[in-house]
Amino acid sequence: MKQDELKQQAALAALDYIPDNGILGIGSGSTVNLFIAALASKAHLLETTVASSVASFNLLKQYKIPVAEFNQVGNIDVYIDGADEINPHFQMIKGGGGCLLREKILATAAKKFVCIADESKLVTALGAFPVAIEVLPMAQSYVARELVKLGGLPVLREGFLTDNHNIILDVHDLPLHEPLALEEKLAAIPGVLGSGLFAHRPADSLLLATKLGVQVKERR
Ligand code: 5RP
Repeated sequence: MKQDELKQQAALAALDYIPDNGILGIGSGSTVNLFIAALASKAHLLETTVASSVASFNLLKQYKIPVAEFNQVGNIDVYIDGADEINPHFQMIKGGGGCLLREKILATAAKKFVCIADESKLVTALGAFPVAIEVLPMAQSYVARELVKLGGLPVLREGFLTDNHNIILDVHDLPLHEPLALEEKLAAIPGVLGSGLFAHRPADSLLLATKLGVQVKERR
């Protein structure tokens, strides 16, 4: 089975997690795009959705699914999003699509985080995928030097600005044996607006699409 077919399986499995008359946070990326398409026929079950990116917001609108600004809603009942890597503790590297800051805000505000992924995303240890860091443009050089001090190799994502008009540094080779501590160190660098390391807010559930079907895993 191809990766896209597995993503579709994970996306369809997430339909079981739509909160009845509740607020659904929507992540970003190709797996989430498939979820949004599938959600169209179930949108009447929801109060509304909140999107983690302009792209997801526009896609929700395109499918005529109600979508509100985050400031207009209270708590998010369920947040559904993909990942670039997820470890057995359900800590993740996210941000391949550059939406990590808004994703982390919605994920942290949500009562439940459901990660949808194909089996290639499950890893024993995080770190093969670079950690995306959203950076205030005027602080790019300073932040890059601080990231090198942490052992990382930052690479500017050329020609890319986030929805918040900031730049992304993709950082390779960061020491990821203590994800919680590293996430704190990254957040403490002035000029860093957010990192794609999701250690303090791991997923609660993982819908992992494998060639043998979708495995539903709960964080222990
Ligand atoms: C976007 C993300 C995505 O969830 C992550 O990149 C996975 O994307 P895809 O579903 O396309 O594999 O964090 O910022």
